[in-house]
Amino acid sequence: MKYQFSRKMQNVKASAIREIFKALADKEIISFAGGNPAADAFPVDEIIKASEELLEDNPISVLQYGLTEGDPFFLKKAAAFINRKGGIIKEGDQIITTTGSQQIMDLASKVLCNEGDVVVVEEPSFLGSLNSFKENGCQLRGVPYKDGEIDLAALELALSSQPKPKFMYLIPNFQNPMGTTMSLDTRKKVLALAKQYEVLILEDDPYGELRFEGEDIPSLKQLDEDGLVLYGASFSKIMAPGMRVACAIANHELIEKMVVAKQGADVHTNLWAQKVIARLLDSMDMDAHLEKLRKIYKEKCELMLNEMEKHFSDQVTYTSPEGGMFIWVHLPSHVDTDAFVKEALKRKVAVVPGAAFLTDDSQECHAFRMNFSTPSREDIIKGVKILGDMTQTF
Ligand SMILES: Cc1ncc(COP(=O)(O)O)c(C=O)c1O
Repeated sequence: MKYQFSRKMQNVKASAIREIFKALADKEIISFAGGNPAADAFPVDEIIKASEELLEDNPISVLQYGLTEGDPFFLKKAAAFINRKGGIIKEGDQIITTTGSQQIMDLASKVLCNEGDVVVVEEPSFLGSLNSFKENGCQLRGVPYKDGEIDLAALELALSSQPKPKFMYLIPNFQNPMGTTMSLDTRKKVLALAKQYEVLILEDDPYGELRFEGEDIPSLKQLDEDGLVLYGASFSKIMAPGMRVACAIANHELIEKMVVAKQGADVHTNLWAQKVIARLLDSMDMDAHLEKLRKIYKEKCELMLNEMEKHFSDQVTYTSPEGGMFIWVHLPSHVDTDAFVKEALKRKVAVVPGAAFLTDDSQECHAFRMNFSTPSREDIIKGVKILGDMTQTF
């Protein structure tokens, strides 16, 4: 049988980093390639207790079909938690549960874009989202960074060029892959541009709760007065990614369309997981839990940065994140990044080549991404030394 695949999928290649993830089956490899929460960051006992109680108290309510919008008790608790600092949920807004925030990208591009429509993205950006947009037939228009911030002149050009984009996709907090945070001033300018050119913003904020340095900056959604933002929050990085629970918040008109699309995608998000998270939000000391996570990630990030400072050649530069899970490393432009990453893998250290996060991965890129949340402290020390020794030959 010769399969006739859709045009939409022609643009989507098997991820360049699949090779790396295959290599990770080798237990000797130190992986800085993932983006998983640390093993000691999961509220395991609380999840077991809530799950057991639910199954004992009223098993059918957990095992039955549920509403596409989400479990009402979960939505109530999630809305209160996400909006606890105020200003995220506006008049006329609605909230839905999604199957991970990954599904927000899928549903948003499905309901907003026809084949060939343009989505403006940061360059580099989260690979999973870029693939989701491509799978829905979108054309990506990348906007580069300049001095650690999105280049606003390039953003204006991208928003004003024809064909007019359907939306722009941004990760303002502890960006994946760069670990950078958009300043308040830039957030305001981005919103002004969105208003001027009438382009919706999809604000993806799975790491916002993981700030371990500096002061919180209001989200684009909080700053928005004109219904310009579709906001995505996720419980993956603060509870457990395997539960696949996130929330999208925007004006009800947009959310209602996403609900219809979700019916065709998966009917509803796992009810058991929603109800467990609702119980945790109801009964757990969330501030203490988040404090614990921030402490774990701060310590690991500082350890990784200190080791990099000790071992990396001074020709190498890197970001210093205030939260999240990633550091973006720039190699000098004469270095072949792919060869560097392959050699690192031979020496049993995995990192992700930066080109994987570009709109077109055949573009030249002299950077790679390192993750500090998953590896153990011992592996951070050992792995950074190996990479550092490699940089001394530059
Ligand atoms: C920026 C960003 N958005 C979305 C996701 C998807 O997360 P989830 O679907 O688990 O909520 C990730 C996962 O790593 C991410 O880094």
